Amino acid sequence: MPQQGLNGGRKATFILQNLRCEYLKNPLGIDYRNPRLSWNLQSDEPGKRQSAYRIMVSSSYQALQAQHYELWDSGKVPSDQSVHLQYEGKELASGQRCYWKVQVWDELGCMEESTDSAWWETGLLEVSDWQGDWIGTGERHLPGWSPLFRKEFSAQSAIITARAYVCGLGYYELYLNGHKVGDHVLDPSQTDYEERVMYVTYDVTEMLLPGNNAVGIMLGDGWYHQHRVWYGWMIYGIPSLIFQMELEYTDGSRARIVSDESWMTTFGPVTLNSVYAGEVYDTRLEKPGWSEPKYIASDWLQAEKAPAPGGKLVSQHMPAVKRMEFIQPIGISQPKDGVYVVDMGRNLSGWIRLQMEGLAGCEVTLRYAETVDQLGMIDTNSGAIDVIYSIQTDRYILKGKRVEIWEPRFTYHGFRFVEITGFPGIPTVETLEGIVLYNAVKETGAFECSNEMINRLHRMIKNTITSNLQGVITDCPVREKCGWLGDAMVIAEATMYNWDSVTFWKKFIEDIKTTRKVQGQWMNIAPGKRTCGEAAPAWGLAQLEIPWILYQFCGDKELLKEHYDAMKQWVDHLLGKSENYIVSFGTDDWCPPDGFEMKGKTVPQISTACFYLSAMRMAEIASVLSRHEDAQAFEKLALAIKGTFNAKFYSEINSTYGTQALDSIALTFGLVPSCSEQAVADALAVDIRQRELHLTTGHLGLKHVFNALCDYGYAELAIDVLEQTTYPSFGHQMLNGATTLWEYWEGDADLPGMSKMGSLSHPFKGGFDAWMYSHILGIRSGSPGFQKIIIQPTCTGALTFARGFYRSIHGVIVSDWSIRDGLLTLHVEIPANTTALVFVPVPKRTEQPSTETKSDLPRLVTKHPANVEFVRWEKEYAVYHVSSGIYDFIA
Ligand code: BGC
Repeated sequence: MPQQGLNGGRKATFILQNLRCEYLKNPLGIDYRNPRLSWNLQSDEPGKRQSAYRIMVSSSYQALQAQHYELWDSGKVPSDQSVHLQYEGKELASGQRCYWKVQVWDELGCMEESTDSAWWETGLLEVSDWQGDWIGTGERHLPGWSPLFRKEFSAQSAIITARAYVCGLGYYELYLNGHKVGDHVLDPSQTDYEERVMYVTYDVTEMLLPGNNAVGIMLGDGWYHQHRVWYGWMIYGIPSLIFQMELEYTDGSRARIVSDESWMTTFGPVTLNSVYAGEVYDTRLEKPGWSEPKYIASDWLQAEKAPAPGGKLVSQHMPAVKRMEFIQPIGISQPKDGVYVVDMGRNLSGWIRLQMEGLAGCEVTLRYAETVDQLGMIDTNSGAIDVIYSIQTDRYILKGKRVEIWEPRFTYHGFRFVEITGFPGIPTVETLEGIVLYNAVKETGAFECSNEMINRLHRMIKNTITSNLQGVITDCPVREKCGWLGDAMVIAEATMYNWDSVTFWKKFIEDIKTTRKVQGQWMNIAPGKRTCGEAAPAWGLAQLEIPWILYQFCGDKELLKEHYDAMKQWVDHLLGKSENYIVSFGTDDWCPPDGFEMKGKTVPQISTACFYLSAMRMAEIASVLSRHEDAQAFEKLALAIKGTFNAKFYSEINSTYGTQALDSIALTFGLVPSCSEQAVADALAVDIRQRELHLTTGHLGLKHVFNALCDYGYAELAIDVLEQTTYPSFGHQMLNGATTLWEYWEGDADLPGMSKMGSLSHPFKGGFDAWMYSHILGIRSGSPGFQKIIIQPTCTGALTFARGFYRSIHGVIVSDWSIRDGLLTLHVEIPANTTALVFVPVPKRTEQPSTETKSDLPRLVTKHPANVEFVRWEKEYAVYHVSSGIYDFIA
């Protein structure tokens, strides 16, 4: 409920909520000296706007309550900006907690104050803040065998705060007094370790005991010591860690515990761990109580100083990978004696948690696969054993205690089916649990329509994307697990609609930057050592496209500023490689039907189109940053590319560039001469119809074909294509049991030129999921960060309703339309402090009605007609300007 504000007794008409610092609610470990603060206004009253704000920051909660703003008081600033307000107060120290609140004045001058207790805390801001050493097992290191480290220390009873800062490479698990700290798994995220490594901050105040305490750390190989797959050259170093704990006592004194050679180490029960191949756990090697005080570590050895990985320690701001879902198998079969095959009901990334009871030394083996063969045995083809020479396998050797529960920790698998052998007794659906892992991004969007196939496809795409949010956006969770730039670029927009993933993408843009720095040029993959060569134009374009998408969604100019030079250099790089503005090297639209049929045939078209978009985006970015000379130069370059592209690749007689992908890309990139746009769209539609509603597109064409169809009047055709069930189509995938998107339209079938290896969880064909939001619901940003919103739904006759929302950084935007008895109802909700242009479809309108005869206009159901203003007719839409509020239009 709105609180009583300071408005002379008047009831408040809005509240302030969702206070964030650098996109995060009450974050620890912020390593920006001047972080940016954001909030949302929420109001049941329409037309609510912010006219001014005041930010107040104190170093304690009490000081904030007592209105003693010793860190910063911005004073009253007339502005409607409620996101990305930079802290401009006193210089902050490392580990400093800052409490803050905000006052906001609305359009009537009424003021409200935030009631949430909001804070942020800085991390270790300087390299010199790290007082400990990197430590490891030194020469004793055994590849794949997970080492344990421990240190005992004593603490006084009156602790006010305790923070643990930790980075354990490749992966770590941190324990205090026998308990695991936090709920992260597979932490920290993969980076180019010689450029940057991520540390994580934990509040461990409640976990410490007065007197003796013990800290324990278990390390996994992760990506830092990945030596099993893609040969040995992906290794950075042997597992090592750095740790620091800062304690503050009530008497003002402080204590610090750091990693050094006084720590003890030994090898633990995880005798083999590989991010690709799996994990072996031998209970006979467990060290009960190893992370508790008073454990006798007499057979442990002293830890040794380890070489630092080289990269800067930076705080991990994005949500860590966590156990996100827990699912029960839908069935267990026994295709052979003693061989059980568990069906999880859907493809996922994660692992199995086992519950069992058996004799000591009994060995249970789990082998994971995305599919089964005709005999019901697991089929590991999609894991491409020919390429990576390993089958995802976990092993557990029993203790022989009553009930044992186990799950792996330093690996993850892409699978739907699990083969279990050596299980004591008979596995049941109650004793097996599927643990679904991905970066803990919060959902920001929802979409549903009257077509169940489209809804199912939407769910499939979401499952495929989350299966590949693994610290990096990967191409697939089994075969490669790599951050291919081209794949990332096509799904970034869909990911932004569906999840609060901005910090995830910011990290990936930085990965692109660091890999480039290490390799001296843009590579196809980031981060890591498996870079797969110089970035093709349709892959390297991610350098511009992803920051641009984030800017559209969040209005974050800093990102554009930060990466401006790199983006500019990317365009120069392509210009240098072009001949008369044609770029001939690169990679084609990837995985169209028939495997490699189109491979390489349209590389110059795809690469030159991406060169054009790079120049065009650069012109837009330069003008956002007021670099007008650059903007003009890039625009000129873009025009020159467009001219040559059309002269060389456009067939005026047939109104086509030759393929569905090229026509779609040319239309959405703005490459088609405006007088020919409709003709190209018509030709695209004819081609799709001639192929009986089949697409010939790969990953890039797919991102654009549905937008192109909708933008030029072929929305029904777009829906028809999605309803197709014969090959190649998504319906065909569904009929063949797909629960995540396939890499090849053919699945993992044998194709000429490739041995069965197609991944069954490849998000790159799902980039068009953004279209469901931007075109079917019609929720688009009208200005960066959605402060101005566009609602322009495509109410095709092929659907009777579509509804959903997008939780923007300014608040929730709803679009919900339905057609019943010839009447179209459009319900929209626009958050406070924003405005929207609402495009109300007026179906089958033949004449241009005059604006004077308002009888043609849709009927508006709102308590606040004054907030709605008819602006114009545009194509088949009546366009209204609305301020924040809830509106129903009936046409
Ligand atoms: C990956 C793709 C990637 C492509 C490019 C494949 O092996 O799985 O997703 O974009 O190679 O060459």
